[in-house]
Amino acid sequence: MDCSRAQQSQASDEVDKTTAVVEKQQHSQSKQVSKDVREGEKTGAWKCTKNHLSRIMWPDDANVAGNVHGGNILKMIEEAGCIVGTRHCNTQNGDRCLAALVRVEKTEFLSPVFIGEVTHVTAEITHTSKHSLEVQVKVMAENILTGAKKLANKAALWYVPCSLQNVDKIMEVPPIKYASAEQEEEGRKRYEAQKMERLETKARPEEMMPSPPNPEKHTVGFSQSSLIHLVGPSDCTLHDYVHGGVTMKLMDEVAGIVAARHCNTNIVTASVDAINFHRKIKKGCVVTVTGRLTFVSNKSMEIEVLVDASSVVEAEKGKYRAVSAFFTFISLDKDNKPLPVPALKYSNGK
Ligand SMILES: CC(C)(COP(=O)(O)OP(=O)(O)OC[C@H]1O[C@@H](n2cnc3c(N)ncnc32)[C@H](O)[C@@H]1OP(=O)(O)O)[C@@H](O)C(=O)NCCC(=O)NCCS
Repeated sequence: MDCSRAQQSQASDEVDKTTAVVEKQQHSQSKQVSKDVREGEKTGAWKCTKNHLSRIMWPDDANVAGNVHGGNILKMIEEAGCIVGTRHCNTQNGDRCLAALVRVEKTEFLSPVFIGEVTHVTAEITHTSKHSLEVQVKVMAENILTGAKKLANKAALWYVPCSLQNVDKIMEVPPIKYASAEQEEEGRKRYEAQKMERLETKARPEEMMPSPPNPEKHTVGFSQSSLIHLVGPSDCTLHDYVHGGVTMKLMDEVAGIVAARHCNTNIVTASVDAINFHRKIKKGCVVTVTGRLTFVSNKSMEIEVLVDASSVVEAEKGKYRAVSAFFTFISLDKDNKPLPVPALKYSNGK
């Protein structure tokens, strides 16, 4: 990846200037939140189905060219969804529970987000079934020096409430009130559609092929990459299982390494196909996240990412496929314009 120092120092100047503005904004936001809480407690409306998070983007959220990683955006989206989903599912009597991420619909990164910008993540529960809930999330990126705002991402996530007493016990979801019968019907259609799609596309248990020794440049083996991560407490929910957002961040990181190795340029996430989270990953497990190119078009790369989990001591014995997904990346020039992607070579030289 080609990193310009000038670009980096300009980015950190922007951060310095924006920090003061953000502190002021955060102060007034927290005053507003306290007011909302007081209002909500008074009227009972605090059982709300909406949540809002804002955060400034720091250099450690971004790649060397200043583009915020898609994985960090996905992590924020998941955090916002988990808060609103967990809060809603605990508005009823019975076991306390946590909303576990089970699915993210196909997501597109609509505009790049840069260091120094503030992301506003709004999450709203838009549908409930007996045991699951849909959260739609919108991410706006704001340049707080100019006030310019752009839509960075829109996503739809599905959560399932799991009891804190017994993680295998799935709780019922309190129904939400819909604004209209049409809205309810549309939500039901989305629920049926994802259920059908899940039946048709079960996780593929196949093994990732190891890279051949000394692979030729631009072959699949040349850019194939793996990341091994020990699941620690900071990766986990109150259940001691990995947050879906943490897993997506690792997946995006590996896919980004694959894309950068293939192109040797600055790369960004363009989209992620629907992801299903069928299996939990417990604290103390080792996860191996592997990415490989599956298709290259003129200006984009499709990368399959597989996440395998196993116990740290008996790595091969209990290994299982926890998640898999397809990411699309694009290669960018210094002005953030898409570049042609080198064609994928077959290993036999074709
Ligand atoms: C949550 C979990 C226990 C559900 O297990 P399951 O065997 O699918 O359970 P069920 O078939 O009884 O389904 C329970 C509900 O979840 C919903 N559901 C399950 N998987 C889903 C998915 N991938 N997408 C959307 N909804 C899903 C079902 O529709 C059902 O709701 P409904 O009764 O209202 O239709 C299991 O999928 C799991 O542990 N997933 C991993 C969760 C996690 O750890 N997330 C972070 C990953 S890093």
